[in-house]
Amino acid sequence: MSPSRMRFAAGRIVRNEGHGEIFYRLEASLPEPVEFDPGQFAMVSGWPGNDPLLPRPLAIFRAGQGTKGKGTVEFVYKVVGRGTALLSGLHPGDPLSLTLPLGRGFDLGKDGRRYWLVGGGVGFATVFPAAAMLARRRAEYEMFLGSRTRDQLPPKEWTPGGSAAGRVHRCTEDGTAGSFGRVTDIVKERMAVLTEAEASRLTILACGPREMLKEIARAAASLGAGMQAALENHMACGFGVCWGCVVALREGEKTGYRRVCREGPVFDAREVVW
Ligand SMILES: Cc1cc2nc3c(=O)[nH]c(=O)nc-3n(C[C@H](O)[C@H](O)[C@H](O)COP(=O)(O)OP(=O)(O)OC[C@H]3O[C@@H](n4cnc5c(N)ncnc54)[C@H](O)[C@@H]3O)c2cc1C
Ligand code: FES
Repeated sequence: MSPSRMRFAAGRIVRNEGHGEIFYRLEASLPEPVEFDPGQFAMVSGWPGNDPLLPRPLAIFRAGQGTKGKGTVEFVYKVVGRGTALLSGLHPGDPLSLTLPLGRGFDLGKDGRRYWLVGGGVGFATVFPAAAMLARRRAEYEMFLGSRTRDQLPPKEWTPGGSAAGRVHRCTEDGTAGSFGRVTDIVKERMAVLTEAEASRLTILACGPREMLKEIARAAASLGAGMQAALENHMACGFGVCWGCVVALREGEKTGYRRVCREGPVFDAREVVW
């Protein structure tokens, strides 16, 4: 299945519910279904008026078939500022403007790999679709989810792929749920006991705060494990026109600049200039 071509879609909100006042899960109907690769995103707006002017980027959490040939799309978001606060105030039946699917998602193409999915904070919204796809393929994967405190972990019922023993590792910085500590430390502890052969078969797929990505990228590179990092730079247009979202990448001896919205948001972590 290949992702749909980018399109503008006039959606309509089906539900937009808060979970623990932290995360909202929004479902919208679309005129037609969209296919997406895990890690791809949409530019979303729907608030009345033009303040803020720009739509906001959100990872596509799920997409499917609706009734009568229509489509559905879901997002999970955390309220951090004006755009997401306005989004959280929208109701079923309200219109939602979308441009999707955008960017380049995770490369899950290689058979025989073992995957670790790492979601820091709301980064789980980007890695869960990859888990759902790996589960469908019966691929070998584990998931590491970390947050500051218990309320900031995703509800367990959102976790894709069922609850096979030892598959999902949760941790909090204050120890109120899962194991105590930062997700970075837990991933690095697990890495430390891998054999060389195991590390060479491992691909890490990660999304979360830049410091988290940087630390895991360094550890993965020193072990020879692969890593794909989904970056969340600020975006203006979302489809490659403004160059407002660039990231520096290593290109041989030189440094090049790539657009997170177009060449990313998923990059080979070894190439990113952290
Ligand atoms: C490709 C991509 C996928 C994303 N997917 C999701 C998702 O699935 N769920 C989700 O909750 N969020 C996601 N984000 C982040 C989300 O886009 C921002 O939180 C949102 O744009 C903030 O808008 P705002 O108007 O509410 O806040 P603003 O008023 O614009 O900003 C409020 C605060 O949040 C910070 N902020 C704003 N944008 C970002 C950003 N991109 N990264 C880090 N900090 C930011 C600002 O610096 C400021 O401190 C994604 C971002 C990208 C680029
Ligand atoms: S946001 Fe405009 S080029 Fe990426």
